[in-house]
Amino acid sequence: MQDLRRRLSDTVGEAFARAGLAAELGRVTSSDRPDLADFQCNGALAAAKAEKANPRALAERVVAELAGSPDLARVEIAGPGFINLTLTDAALAARAAEIAADPRFGAERVAVPRRVIVDYGGPNVAKPMHVGHLRASIIGESIKRLFRFRGDEVYGDAHFGDWGFQMGLLIVAVAEEQPELAFFQAGEGPFPAESPVSLADLERLYPAAAARAKSEPEFRDLARRATAELQAGRAGYRALWRHFVEVSRSALIREFTALDVNFDLWKGESDADPLIAEMVQTLEDKGLLVLDQGARIIRVARDDDKRDLPPLLVVSSEGSAMYGTTDLATILDRRRTLDPQLMLYVVDQRQADHFVQVFRAAYLAGFASEGELEHIGFGTMNGVDGKPFKTREGGVLKLHDLISMATEKARERLTEAGLGAELTAEAFEATAHKVAVAALKFADLGAYRGTSYIFDLDRFMSFEGKTGPYLLYQAVRIKSLLRKAAEAGAAAGAIRVTEPAERELALTLDAFEGALAEAYAKRAPNLIAEHAYRLAQAFAKFYAACPILSATEPERVASRLGFVQTTLGQLECALGLLGIATPERM
Ligand code: ARG
Repeated sequence: MQDLRRRLSDTVGEAFARAGLAAELGRVTSSDRPDLADFQCNGALAAAKAEKANPRALAERVVAELAGSPDLARVEIAGPGFINLTLTDAALAARAAEIAADPRFGAERVAVPRRVIVDYGGPNVAKPMHVGHLRASIIGESIKRLFRFRGDEVYGDAHFGDWGFQMGLLIVAVAEEQPELAFFQAGEGPFPAESPVSLADLERLYPAAAARAKSEPEFRDLARRATAELQAGRAGYRALWRHFVEVSRSALIREFTALDVNFDLWKGESDADPLIAEMVQTLEDKGLLVLDQGARIIRVARDDDKRDLPPLLVVSSEGSAMYGTTDLATILDRRRTLDPQLMLYVVDQRQADHFVQVFRAAYLAGFASEGELEHIGFGTMNGVDGKPFKTREGGVLKLHDLISMATEKARERLTEAGLGAELTAEAFEATAHKVAVAALKFADLGAYRGTSYIFDLDRFMSFEGKTGPYLLYQAVRIKSLLRKAAEAGAAAGAIRVTEPAERELALTLDAFEGALAEAYAKRAPNLIAEHAYRLAQAFAKFYAACPILSATEPERVASRLGFVQTTLGQLECALGLLGIATPERM
């Protein structure tokens, strides 16, 4: 079931061919002037350039070939030679009916599904999350859902940061604070099953230890040694480390779940550890490793690079695995386990160089082929000062605090707007939470991911304009309308198109497929957000112009309810792809 643009492109392409021109020139786009036409084709201008002919004359030849096309109400030539196409009401109604009957609301599937890993979120043990993690989680979740919806077999992996220097820092800090834990230092165990530290302990110890490592070289060296020993397999350190990981992970899963971000795999950097020795050997055998001041590196610069690209550090001079080492070994791990055709890394744009290094190293080593690894970068969420957002106290944000802050604001807004008054306390809470998540996610996904934006909870939370709460409000309004219809015994039926607002709504519903296809190709969820907003607007116009339950003929009521139901379905589907759930009532 193709969308109208694709079908029209075929029709117009055939007309081009019959007129003796290249069929590809018949590509149709939605109209730049929706007041004049539904779609347009600019192919006559390109043909004229190639043939050194008059574009209007060529357009006339094509238009003559389109005469008698049953779906076209009007075909007109405008300006220098644009072909403007307007569909019949019947053709639009038929397409709307197709979408209404389609569980995918008019969206297609990819012809050849791929196995895809989306590496996103990337939280770390003990280190609090920052805005980069928040954006990675929101954008990655949406890309994962989009790819899955298009038909790919998709695995979201948190790629938990559980193997770096911060682990050595924590081991040293805990050992110092709790000398009675000496048993973790020595021997083979067994070690206590109960964690000797809580999440609060980790959150307190880590920043202090990180600061000390900067000013006290002895402390830093101790932590480096602990990191190397942990990686080398020292039993007590491994036991302690497992507690750190578990304590952090269970808290993070709670917070991610609250944000409706769900990973299929909670693998960590440490999961790549068993492959590292073998990998280093392979890199050695392939002659890729270079000794550099006691460390082993891979040179990844290319002659045509515009700027200096530093080498990838594989083994530090202490013998430790680095961030890039675990990333490289993780590619190998994924190759052996899921063997994906595509790995997408949804990570802060500031790590762009890191991924160029890792990807090139992987290509050199033969762990992946060019094009299978892709960094999906994004800009930062900034504070009003233009710097990456921090809390009022100046600390990095904690996901939990952000969600509470947004939910508090949502409660205020709902109450101000006189919404949710008839809900039970529990339902009100659930609604406030959904509004909060919608506000945060839509603010993030509303603009192209590469652009940075300013954290402005007041604006995100507004019920007017291009915001998550506005879209939820529209969806809830539609739900209540459908409830009323059901109470009145009215049901959706065959879709008819007569009013201009119905035409516009049908065309907007049809544009879903184009928006998703482009969002998929560009890894750009903002195009889905854009579509959701347009759909809500087209619906608002339809709602204002076309009486629904009070329409006089029952067929009209049924047709309009068909529009209402289909709009709701597609709107919820689009929001779902953004990771946004709609409440039943507000
Ligand atoms: N843990 C990393 C950080 O906090 C992000 C991980 C991103 N994913 C990856 N495969 N490197 O910066």
